[in-house]
Amino acid sequence: MSLAEVKTEGKSETEKKWTVSDVLKWTTQYFNNNNISESRLDAEVLLSYVLDLERLKLYLEFNRILGKEELSAYKGLIKKRLDFIPVAYLVGQKEFMGLGFFINKHVLIPRPETELLVETVINKIKENFPFSVKEKTEKGKLVKESIPQIIDLGVGCGNIAVSIAKYVKDCKIYAIDVSQKCLEVAFHNSKAYKIEDKITFLLGSLFYSLEGYNLKGKIDFIVSNPPYVKTTEFDSLPPEVRQEPYIALNGGKDGLDFYRQILSQSLIYLKEEGYLILEIGDGQKEEIVDLMKKKGFCSIEVFSDYSGIERIILAQKSTLKEKEIKFLNKNRKH
Ligand SMILES: C[S@@+](CC[C@H](N)C(=O)[O-])C[C@H]1O[C@@H](n2cnc3c(N)ncnc32)[C@H](O)[C@@H]1O
Repeated sequence: MSLAEVKTEGKSETEKKWTVSDVLKWTTQYFNNNNISESRLDAEVLLSYVLDLERLKLYLEFNRILGKEELSAYKGLIKKRLDFIPVAYLVGQKEFMGLGFFINKHVLIPRPETELLVETVINKIKENFPFSVKEKTEKGKLVKESIPQIIDLGVGCGNIAVSIAKYVKDCKIYAIDVSQKCLEVAFHNSKAYKIEDKITFLLGSLFYSLEGYNLKGKIDFIVSNPPYVKTTEFDSLPPEVRQEPYIALNGGKDGLDFYRQILSQSLIYLKEEGYLILEIGDGQKEEIVDLMKKKGFCSIEVFSDYSGIERIILAQKSTLKEKEIKFLNKNRKH
């Protein structure tokens, strides 16, 4: 049954006046009956979008009667939501790190757990670069231009790169994606926050597009939330997630394809003691930590997200030579 077919107190929909409160109650029930999770929240987000109101302000306008056009626009969105199109795609917006990001169906919808990745990177930047360039001037002279150089692999809508650029005063970010459409969205978001000058957007697979930038051995931080879903698990993902770009999710047979490539190639670009900070999937920690040790990464730390899932891995490039790492690996017990 659709909103158009609903009859209440013997009146047809054309006669009935739908208030904000009625619409929210009705939609929540309707979504529940149709296996849409977060039914109330979704109803509120969609209605606030149609009415161009902040979500919480709906509660101050509970008795507001919806106009014909508003009702019709809202009904259109509900229909799409029943096809499991995520709310974020319907409203073209997602909040991340307290910032609003424009999104569309070409980009992965930023997840709350990725905020932990960004917070980890920002903390490490602040720890390692306590002074901004200006504060490092002595007697009016710039002593050393020491700003963190960062690579964001798989930029998507730009949530990671733009948040870092927004919250870290001085930094230089190379933001890479294999999808031109993602880069367009990310560039748009960087302009919205006026930090586009801090980010170089590059199209290409992983590190390939960095050739020619003279960055080998010069990068302080490599950060990535790579695709990490096992190919065979894609079909059993929730229907909403399956609406998101396949290339943003598919991590190959065992979900670790990108980690293997990133671990090898990041050693070329990182400075000694430079940081690699990655988001990982549930249950992938052991294998990735093992891969990191084999590559000679050190000071490995793992952080859990708010659901207690081990979600972020941080490691530093070792100062040891390749030969010494091989020797250590040979003698490593596990
Ligand atoms: C899991 S999404 C992460 C998006 C965003 N950074 C976030 O955290 O929400 C992975 C991203 O990697 C990009 N990607 C996939 N394969 C790639 C490759 N070979 N090289 C660079 N980027 C790639 C996808 O287009 C997608 O934007």
